[in-house]
Amino acid sequence: MCGIIGFIGEDNASDILIKGLKALEYRGYDSSGVALGDDGKPKIIKSAGRISVLEEKLASASLPVFHRGIAHTRWATHGGVSDLNSHPHSSDSLSLVHNGIIENYYELESMLRSEGYTFSSETDTEAALMLIDYEYRRLHDPEKAIFKAISGIRGSFAFAIIFNDVKEKIYAVRRQSPLIAAHTNKGSFIASDVTALLPYTKDIYRPEDDVLIILSKDKTEFKNKNGDAVYPISEHVDWNEEEAQKGGFPHFMLKEISEIPDSVRKTVSSYLADGIPYFDAASLKEDNVLNIGRIHVSACGTAMHAGLIGKRLIEELAHIPVNIETASEFRCRSQILDKRDLMIVLSQSGETADTLSSLAYAKERGVNTLAIVNVFGSSIARSADDVIYTKAGPEIAVASTKAYTVQCAVLALIALHLARIKKRMTADEVRTHTILLSSSLPSAIEKVISESDGIKDAANDICNAEHLFFIGRGSDSDVCAEGSLKLKEISYIHSEAYPAGELKHGTISLISDGIPVIACACNEDTCDKMISSIREVRSRGARVTVLTTNKLAKSHAFPCDRIITVDDEGGPYTFLTAASAMQLLAYHASAKKGLDVDKPRNLAKSVTVE
Ligand code: AGP
Ligand code: GLU
Repeated sequence: MCGIIGFIGEDNASDILIKGLKALEYRGYDSSGVALGDDGKPKIIKSAGRISVLEEKLASASLPVFHRGIAHTRWATHGGVSDLNSHPHSSDSLSLVHNGIIENYYELESMLRSEGYTFSSETDTEAALMLIDYEYRRLHDPEKAIFKAISGIRGSFAFAIIFNDVKEKIYAVRRQSPLIAAHTNKGSFIASDVTALLPYTKDIYRPEDDVLIILSKDKTEFKNKNGDAVYPISEHVDWNEEEAQKGGFPHFMLKEISEIPDSVRKTVSSYLADGIPYFDAASLKEDNVLNIGRIHVSACGTAMHAGLIGKRLIEELAHIPVNIETASEFRCRSQILDKRDLMIVLSQSGETADTLSSLAYAKERGVNTLAIVNVFGSSIARSADDVIYTKAGPEIAVASTKAYTVQCAVLALIALHLARIKKRMTADEVRTHTILLSSSLPSAIEKVISESDGIKDAANDICNAEHLFFIGRGSDSDVCAEGSLKLKEISYIHSEAYPAGELKHGTISLISDGIPVIACACNEDTCDKMISSIREVRSRGARVTVLTTNKLAKSHAFPCDRIITVDDEGGPYTFLTAASAMQLLAYHASAKKGLDVDKPRNLAKSVTVE
């Protein structure tokens, strides 16, 4: 949600900021802006719309070369998308960009109005800006002013700040919103995430909440509220710049789908020892596993859908009951948590505020927490007691694809690990499964990707539909939930995923002539029942596309208008092969409609507000 980049140093700040904003644009893309200047009040150029609009404005402003600047790409939370609401915002003494939500902005504004302040935007950000301005006028010290101001702010923030009368410095501070810092021989940087800094460095700092970052050309300092220096640990990131680029693909999403097989191989093989799942996480050590009462799973969106797969596999293979709840709802009711339970949270970004809150809820109640996260050192990774990293590399497209598949693969490994410890599976049985996960499944997915013409045709068929249904049974039904989300997110076709047997209990009234239905039937045990469900919708006029395996397509006569087949090499994990087919279906439908596949309207990659 929103991207921030700031730079002070030798080079042209404007070039670095624009390049950084482009790398961060996937985080939010309503509007963008920069504040540039080495001395006095910086020049502010900002605009609603994409970064290309800002670039044009910047070009026509013909600014001189500056060596200091802060920049922002917005995902509006308070106030519409307009030039005026775009960041940076400025007062008489400072300019600021903000990521997050100032929850008590209304109270702060009332207090500040009584002090004579006026507000020109509709954002919550302006309250924070004016509060820092107010404290600066009183205290005449930027560091003290920032600490005093943030002590009165409730909510989440990452701020980057330039004071008009403090030359050669940028100040930054965060609370619950991501912000990293780095120093190189070019100068000092701050950014919302590492993708913006990969062209310059792989060594970064992740300051804790409420630590003040002071950037100058020749150093980056960190201070706590007492003014004492603090030293965040430096992290080396193993992603590279090419991984965060399109590499010849028309869209990041297509590139990321094509990376699924290798991501799965890499992730699964990192957690195998002699073909058996092996984890360092304390909560997964034998004694602790034998003590687990229940498992709770919490996550959002696509990660939540991976959780559904996790629940199915853990309950089926390890016989441990799993409670799953979407993270935004987790704290909304009284959860029955026991100290013997294990809480698993899933997140690609590791920064999702709802997921962080459900994690905190479980921790407060003494429950062991395990995070499955793709971004090294992210907030969720740091907050959980244990972390298992998925090895998908950077995921830039807003629609998550490879991260989902590797999350499911890790959950499958955890299920196998628990099943072995609980003696529900022998080591040899487990090995048979890990071979499927590490080798057969990725090659089956490779085939889906390389032979995707049938999926493209199916996408052409559905891309003008207004409504559509996905149906499946068992794990196919869980995958349908994700297929439907993907299609909605990027093609704007309204779609619903239903367990096939549930349709007749109400939703079938929505089936009318010509409505497309995607029926996922990759599971032999439920195939006959799926055929009955397909007949039910076809007799009411639905146009049915069946997604099944080559083998089932031969042994069963599917009544349908179109059939897409996938290889069943992945055995019981074939639902993940079907998931990739659905990801491609959504991709091609969106691309065919000429939509912005990687940056769908109203969305942002990382949702750092609750
Ligand atoms: C996925 O396509 C979505 N953009 C969204 O549902 C996402 O999965 C969700 O916001 C969770 O994000 P996270 O994995 O980074 O926590
Ligand atoms: N709440 C601020 C706004 O609406 C910041 C949003 C963001 O994080 O982009 O302007």
